[in-house]
Amino acid sequence: MNLSASAAETLRAALGDLLDGLPPKQAAQAVDRLIASYRGATPTDAPILRDRADVAAYAAYRMPATFEAVRSALEAFADAAPDWTPGSHVDVGGGTGAATWAVSATWAGTRPVTVLDWAEPALALGREVAAAHPPLRDVRWQRARVNASLVLESTDLVTVSYVLNELAAPDRAALVDAAASAAQAVVIVEPGTPDGYARVIEARDRLIAAGFRVAAPCPHSAACPIEPGSDWCHFSARVSRSSLHRQVKGGSLPYEDEKFSYVAAARFPVSPAPTRVVRRPQIRKGQVLLDLCETEERLSRTTVTKRHGELYRAARDADWGDAWPPVRP
Ligand SMILES: C[S@@+](CC[C@H](N)C(=O)[O-])C[C@H]1O[C@@H](n2cnc3c(N)ncnc32)[C@H](O)[C@@H]1O
Repeated sequence: MNLSASAAETLRAALGDLLDGLPPKQAAQAVDRLIASYRGATPTDAPILRDRADVAAYAAYRMPATFEAVRSALEAFADAAPDWTPGSHVDVGGGTGAATWAVSATWAGTRPVTVLDWAEPALALGREVAAAHPPLRDVRWQRARVNASLVLESTDLVTVSYVLNELAAPDRAALVDAAASAAQAVVIVEPGTPDGYARVIEARDRLIAAGFRVAAPCPHSAACPIEPGSDWCHFSARVSRSSLHRQVKGGSLPYEDEKFSYVAAARFPVSPAPTRVVRRPQIRKGQVLLDLCETEERLSRTTVTKRHGELYRAARDADWGDAWPPVRP
């Protein structure tokens, strides 16, 4: 099994064990409460994840999806920086540690890791789940509040996954600036909604102003070619559904697709994809339509037909979010 499949499997098993200790009805109620809190007006003045039931529900219900989204963003980042491996990692607003799992699924080995969050029950449960995964056994789970006075220790990589959404604008700016001051590389992931994309673009602008270059998803570090309000750049990660998922959401599909927006940027030289597939490819008879974001700071649609031979076969295999044309191994 490869690195990333094995981390995903271990996480799934560890979360399954966690749920075995919770009566299904209680777990389902905690998920309902969680969904209601997240529907309410965020940011909040106090943690949404208040107790173990909240956190267990979060871990079982959302962590597999945030893990897959971050893993997908990190994979694109690693493609743009193939010779780089983080020697240390700080996960801000890390909650139960989804991004720490994603980092361990992307780069082999161990490194000093610190998870910062203001919700103690999330940190406690994160530590418990991580005990199943040797690369994460020495993670420091530390209570910290993100606000304007946040200072981060110097580190190679900072991840901020599904957190900006919970912060007021001044705290979002302070967090991105603190990450830029502390890290060689910063990866920010948000829900794949118009608002999530807007927060990613705001963060991207701040990182570039601080001297970073965008590694992914954008092929360049110039302005995003999407006209504000007309569309939003987002991607999709496939997530296997747990039994709790099926119980709460109903339906029988064994998976769901997590939509996310992200930016991965670095202080060191990176090689972004020359072009990226920014929508699900449309496969027609004898042709594939690809929507692309290009190095020349524009969006385009290209049609690859059977006449293109090998390129056509590659286009049929191309996925939303992939670099284009495919890089040969
Ligand atoms: C949606 S969860 C994301 C957790 C994790 N990063 C993931 O991707 O699964 C948001 C996290 O941000 C934390 N958070 C929100 N506002 C915070 C603040 N002001 N200071 C510290 N942590 C905060 C929450 O406690 C929660 O764990």
